[in-house]
Amino acid sequence: MDAIRHHSFGPPEVLTLEQIPDPVPGPGEVLVDVVAHGVHLLDTSTRRGEAGGPLPLPTLPTVPGREIAGTVSDVGPGVDASWRGRRVAAHLGAVPDGGGYARRAVVVAEKLHPIPDGPDGAPLDPADATAMIGTGRMAVYTLDIAAVTAADIVVVTGAAGALGTLFVQEALQSGARVVALAGGAAKLKLLRELVADALPGPPPDAAPGPMPGGVPGQVAGAVPGTALDAVPGTGRLALVDYSDPGWVDAARAALGSSPATLVLDGVGGDLGTAATALLGTSDGTTDGASDGTDNGAAGGRLVAYGWASGAANRYTAWAGADRIESPVEVRYAVGPDAPPMSDQRPYQERALARAASGRWRVATHRVPFAEAARAHRELEERRTTGKVVLV
Ligand SMILES: NC(=O)c1ccc[n+]([C@@H]2O[C@H](COP(=O)([O-])OP(=O)(O)OC[C@H]3O[C@@H](n4cnc5c(N)ncnc54)[C@H](OP(=O)(O)O)[C@@H]3O)[C@@H](O)[C@H]2O)c1
Repeated sequence: MDAIRHHSFGPPEVLTLEQIPDPVPGPGEVLVDVVAHGVHLLDTSTRRGEAGGPLPLPTLPTVPGREIAGTVSDVGPGVDASWRGRRVAAHLGAVPDGGGYARRAVVVAEKLHPIPDGPDGAPLDPADATAMIGTGRMAVYTLDIAAVTAADIVVVTGAAGALGTLFVQEALQSGARVVALAGGAAKLKLLRELVADALPGPPPDAAPGPMPGGVPGQVAGAVPGTALDAVPGTGRLALVDYSDPGWVDAARAALGSSPATLVLDGVGGDLGTAATALLGTSDGTTDGASDGTDNGAAGGRLVAYGWASGAANRYTAWAGADRIESPVEVRYAVGPDAPPMSDQRPYQERALARAASGRWRVATHRVPFAEAARAHRELEERRTTGKVVLV
């Protein structure tokens, strides 16, 4: 079968298309003909040979990847034969040698999820289902911790990413106001289209006009001379390009006199720290950032779920157990607070259900299977939107 393997750690080009023997399902397992293979940011650091993530480095050569969707083509001893021919999605587990970037994968039958029908009555697209099995699961879990309500004003970093696109939609669906931060106009455009698609027309509870306390007479997102943009009519979403040096002022202009109440941060570093400082009132009180700086934040909650920038958000003083004193309530959706892999199934089911119902529009960045190296390069260069999937 075709598989993407690497025999050494290094740049994206170490990923090569090879022929390797078909796997054979053992007792309790099935064979899946895979048509959609999830690509994770973690796959890129593993490929570079960087230890320190949640998984140990694999033994080489290795087939990366842990999220798949396809059709069951064979069943092993003890498995109900009716699985044959069914469309399924599965997470292969928290294992360094995932085997997901291969055209066939052996999966423990208990890990299979039948792919549900989507809002149009047709089966959910396999790439969308793949996105739900790992990233959607993480989104549900993180959102459980965040407990977004209609009273919240939510700041999302990396808002055009795999998780960010889901957080923005869910927060809006919950009635909250959202400041979505992403790098570049193209990413914000995609987010705008996605949200407009998911929330056609102003939601019934949306107050027309600016966010509370916004610039008088101006809809947040239409502030001249700033990087703000918005989905017309909702009045609840501001899109801010944080590659623009003036982005903090733009975000503050969108917030007006109402501080953010919740930050969802998976970027970390200076961006995540500056985003967290949007919590509170800029009254000059010490905000408790672990480096002792005063960013002016006075309260609110931060849910940290990653550090795509490679550095910690200074409010989190990663790693996990090392809680800092801060007026910002910090919660972690990764590390010791994350549910163990054995408990992931309910989160996967809920993620698939949200995509199936149309509550979430799934954004995918699809790359031909043979071009896995390109997919990794684009992820590392921050040129993707939504979930990266090899097809
Ligand atoms: N997906 C999951 O299942 C999962 C599970 C656990 C933890 N996480 C963590 O959650 C975070 C987001 O994951 P995701 O799956 O949504 O990833 P993603 O699609 O790659 O999104 C991450 C976003 O982070 C921003 N970013 C900032 N600096 C970056 C850098 N140096 N390299 C790459 N991206 C950078 C990029 O947006 P801009 O260019 O707009 O800044 C990018 O869109 C990551 O830290 C990840 O490790 C994800």
